[in-house]
Amino acid sequence: MRVRVLGSAAGGGAPQWNCACPVCRDARRDGRDRTQDTVAVTGDGTAWYLLNAGPDIRTQVLRTPELAPGPGLRETPVRGVLLTTAELDHTLGLLSLREAVRISVYATATVTHALSTAFPLRPMLGAYTDLDWQDLTAGLVLDGGLLVHRLTVGTKRPRYAGDTPGEDWVSALRLTDTRSGSSFVYATCLPAWTPAFGTFVTGADEVLLDGTFTTDDELTRTTGRPGSAQAMGHLPMAASHPMTTGYPGTRFRYGHLNNTNPSLGADIAADGLELLTDH
Ligand code: MLT
Ligand code: MN
Ligand code: ZN
Repeated sequence: MRVRVLGSAAGGGAPQWNCACPVCRDARRDGRDRTQDTVAVTGDGTAWYLLNAGPDIRTQVLRTPELAPGPGLRETPVRGVLLTTAELDHTLGLLSLREAVRISVYATATVTHALSTAFPLRPMLGAYTDLDWQDLTAGLVLDGGLLVHRLTVGTKRPRYAGDTPGEDWVSALRLTDTRSGSSFVYATCLPAWTPAFGTFVTGADEVLLDGTFTTDDELTRTTGRPGSAQAMGHLPMAASHPMTTGYPGTRFRYGHLNNTNPSLGADIAADGLELLTDH
């Protein structure tokens, strides 16, 4: 299995276009750019799947040689997209994939319903491409031999979704290579470290965690805007980092960084970072 971070920022990216906070100013000065959260995975190095499709997807695909098309005229290694939320920063990129001859999208019934009604992306995309939209059920096996397990970790609706019904709004995914046995957990939106989540990550080789905020008060402290990290559905790194020590043999790193998060270093994903290579 190979796992590549295509984008390591939360919604808006970092720097964010209209933000002059210290982190965004430093990023502009140093030429650093985090694009919005999307990860690419493959079991066999040939069939690739995207975990979410953010607004920066075109740039991300163009700068990833493994995702280049060919040899057929419209042949692409990108087979499909697995959605873990219905948030705009995880779904808008689907519209930029409309040139696909055919594409598979996997989502929970809750996310599918929101993307069919409040934000009717599914019927829109279906007008442009041969869209194979499937339920994201546990035990799904993708081309290339990746086995997918899903855990509902949160019930926060996107702001646009109003009172759209459903429970399975926010998922963590566990992908296991059926040949090598290696596994990767993607949980960039994680409201709480529950016992169920603890079990879900046990034995994984690599985990990408929610790195939106360092502390619960980061947004208010840096921008003056109201809203704690946990109220926004994001367990701060200060709370998740102590939990990671209980899983020897598992490497934890952070993605989906908000533009206010100044973290850098070995545990912080950057765009283009390869998280796992075992083949
Ligand atoms: C989130 O991660 O909480 C959402 O992407 C927020 C947003 O879209 O503004
Ligand atoms: Mn987000
Ligand atoms: Zn900023």
